[in-house]
Amino acid sequence: MSSLFGQQIDNSTKIETLIKNLVTEVEQINAQIKTVQGARPEFLEAGKNWIDKTGQFRGRPLHYPYVGTGSGRGPFVELQDGSIKLDLINGIGIHLMGHGNPRVMQAALRGALSDIVTQGNLQPNKEYTIFSEKIAKLAGKNSRLKYAWLSTCGTMANENALKISRQKNSPARMVISFKNAFAGRSTMMAEVTDNPAYKVGLPEYHEVLRVPFFDKNDPGSTEKALAAMKEIYAKHENNICAFGFEPMLGEGGYQAAPRDFFIPMLEFCKEKGIAVWADEVQTFTRTGELFAFETLGIGQYIDICTIAKTAQVGVTLYTEEYNPKPGLIAGTFSGSSVSLRAGSEILDMLQEGYLGPKGRIMQIHKKFISMLNALNLGSCKGKVQDAGGMGLMIAFTPFDGKKEQVDALSKKLFSNGLICFTCGKDPVRIRFLVPATIQDQEIDLAIEIVEKTILEGV
Ligand SMILES: Cc1ncc(COP(=O)(O)O)c(C=O)c1O
Repeated sequence: MSSLFGQQIDNSTKIETLIKNLVTEVEQINAQIKTVQGARPEFLEAGKNWIDKTGQFRGRPLHYPYVGTGSGRGPFVELQDGSIKLDLINGIGIHLMGHGNPRVMQAALRGALSDIVTQGNLQPNKEYTIFSEKIAKLAGKNSRLKYAWLSTCGTMANENALKISRQKNSPARMVISFKNAFAGRSTMMAEVTDNPAYKVGLPEYHEVLRVPFFDKNDPGSTEKALAAMKEIYAKHENNICAFGFEPMLGEGGYQAAPRDFFIPMLEFCKEKGIAVWADEVQTFTRTGELFAFETLGIGQYIDICTIAKTAQVGVTLYTEEYNPKPGLIAGTFSGSSVSLRAGSEILDMLQEGYLGPKGRIMQIHKKFISMLNALNLGSCKGKVQDAGGMGLMIAFTPFDGKKEQVDALSKKLFSNGLICFTCGKDPVRIRFLVPATIQDQEIDLAIEIVEKTILEGV
């Protein structure tokens, strides 16, 4: 039976064995990583040089003294100073399966053996087709989403979403978004983002209109958001192309909202022909189901959905109705062969016990939140407030949620071995993007470090 040369690469038992052996060899080295540890004295100076050099050549120091060595195991990662950190931010949510995951590495190696490093929309390889089919079918299970267009990051996926909304609803140009939204770093996505610190010196385009997000302390917040949307519509009517929203505020403070909060606004958008665009760049794969629109049960309303991060590539998903005309979205890059292979593998892995109300993601969430709440009631009384989020997106408000305090705390947590990040403005919160492969004893360790650091004070 004849076969294509590409199939010979895929089916070669020799290549399969070589890949397995390579990964096993690396795994054995990574297995020396046991738990959190401080810098190793003999690597302290070299480690510092790595940090300094990185800052020097990008023109701005690193936020944390972090340069990785390329070795890691699960939630643990080795840095150039020899320290081992418990990484609960994962490149701001990329490494869903943790560091040095053997299945992800095997998939990545397969991608690396491709004849090309980076795939494009003009000349894709099979990984492009396999990934697009997989994600489009998964997205369509509980929504009307049908097509997937690949790009290299969340910002670019969002740019495509906005262009698609504008073209379909032309000449409408304005976007409704939430207060405290985050949408990325391009000129337009900085505009959609509601954070003045991220657009200092940029001109304002006045194309984004805001509705307030859900406030669990305000029983009228659902009505207020709908009223704000109606007011915006009354003023701008046919000039609104899309309602672009995060199903849970990410950078804006890890605030979740119930289904009932979204429904009246989504009904209103449907009635007025405004595109419903869910920005799931951060929520995708994390909320207990694959998409937060599934967790919230709002799939039928979604016209466009964007993902990136854990998918390893950016994707804009859309319905038949929103399929754009040729020429509107393209671009040289669609993603690397490594990203496409690894992203596909991660999607397959997620089907193996991670999802659903009783899946591992929800188990992790419950354990984490209950332990944070126990700290707040016990040894760290009142200093670990308002623990919450969705699934693997977890946050709490330390002390009074003041920026300086929380920034200082996040840096102290780092030096005590736990990597997290902040989110929100008032209050500022500590957030975690927890890997799905974390073990219970590793959650215990994270909580121990939080407790110790809070008790040390800032
Ligand atoms: C909700 C949301 N949208 C868009 C983005 C931008 O994605 P990227 O940084 O991949 O461009 C992010 C990144 O954090 C995000 O959280």
